[in-house]
Amino acid sequence: MHPSAQPSVRTSEPTSVPTSPGVPTSPDALVIGGGIIGLVTAWRAAQHGLRTAVADPAPGGGAAQVAAGMLAAVTELHYGEQTLLGLNLASARRYPDFAAELAEASGRDLGYRRCGTLAVALDADDRAYLRDLHALQRRSGLDSEWLSGRECRRLEPMLAPGVRGGLRVDGDHQVDPRRLAAALLAACERAGVAFHRTTAERLTVERGRATGAELADGSRIAAGQVVLAAGSRSGRLAGVPEDVLPPVRPVKGQVLRLRMPEGLPGGVPFLSRTVRAVVRGGPLYLVPREDGELVVGATTEELGWDTTVTAGGVYELLRDAHELMPGITELPLIETRAGLRPGSPDNAPLLGPTALPGLLLATGHHRNGVLLTPVTGDVLAAALTGGPLPEEALPFAPDRFTTQPYGARPGAAPTPVPASQEQPA
Ligand code: GLY
Repeated sequence: MHPSAQPSVRTSEPTSVPTSPGVPTSPDALVIGGGIIGLVTAWRAAQHGLRTAVADPAPGGGAAQVAAGMLAAVTELHYGEQTLLGLNLASARRYPDFAAELAEASGRDLGYRRCGTLAVALDADDRAYLRDLHALQRRSGLDSEWLSGRECRRLEPMLAPGVRGGLRVDGDHQVDPRRLAAALLAACERAGVAFHRTTAERLTVERGRATGAELADGSRIAAGQVVLAAGSRSGRLAGVPEDVLPPVRPVKGQVLRLRMPEGLPGGVPFLSRTVRAVVRGGPLYLVPREDGELVVGATTEELGWDTTVTAGGVYELLRDAHELMPGITELPLIETRAGLRPGSPDNAPLLGPTALPGLLLATGHHRNGVLLTPVTGDVLAAALTGGPLPEEALPFAPDRFTTQPYGARPGAAPTPVPASQEQPA
């Protein structure tokens, strides 16, 4: 199902399971990047009958190892992001079936928890911000209920007495991103996806078409189509013509993990749903897992590729979390970690075919990678198999950032092949 181009250097053998005969060294689809976005793309592609490979030194890693896993289409709504809201809601609606299908396919629990979210205000400014957000949610037709401070504390007794009010959003749930990544990895392996546990260093382009990748081990994979799904590193892959290189940058987030007690006197849980707040203008969230883990996040820092956990970052998170829920400082702190969100110029992902035939993008998910995992898998599977893209994905075509048509700039790669030759046979 892919062009006849043969690799001119050593062909990489997959270094991971499956080991069954017939594992393709020249797949129909090569996915560069094995985070949750790359893995869901590979899983769906394999389910559609494509011989699929993933290139990543540590598949299942990446930002999902740090992310809190809020599925917060409603509480994380921002002005100017109403188009993105459509995609976020479409993916949130897919989550129950997606989680059930993936759990079945992988034999693993995803930690998908339909617990709802409470967004609270600590002072008059926070309250004004939440009132505005509530109005925006209502105008957007979303379910969100305003509660007094007392009503908030009735739902979550550990909240500080100073909480001034909040928004109850019963439709914003959570999933455990580490479990999600592990489940996707297992489902890919069961579906026959081949893993090349090394870095893709260069996209290969021949006669105006993406034809595969050169890997860090010196080998090369020839592929019918290539999906660039390398998270914040997607904008750095050598060989991608400038006109189609995704404008993705790293946005650092520091996150803490604590351990909650099994329950308060009377059997009340320490925290029963996700709680969000804006504290002194900075967003904060507490995400309680069923296994007792409490995730506290997150900073938002434009510091390039730095993933240092800093005293200042940890201090700010704990200071704000303590203001929101004083009892939190009694809990064991079990992990501090920083990750990189793949930020795009409009905070929305780039999904689908590029102007370079054979190259597709699944990147730029910024704050919403975990939420957008199900819809991304569906969009990329449709794109890879030549089917119509889901309606809600159309505004997120990669060419929305392109100022000149592909090939128009001096130094750009050769003119693309005619449309009739664009798709693999
Ligand atoms: N969606 C939460 C974050 O990016 O911090």
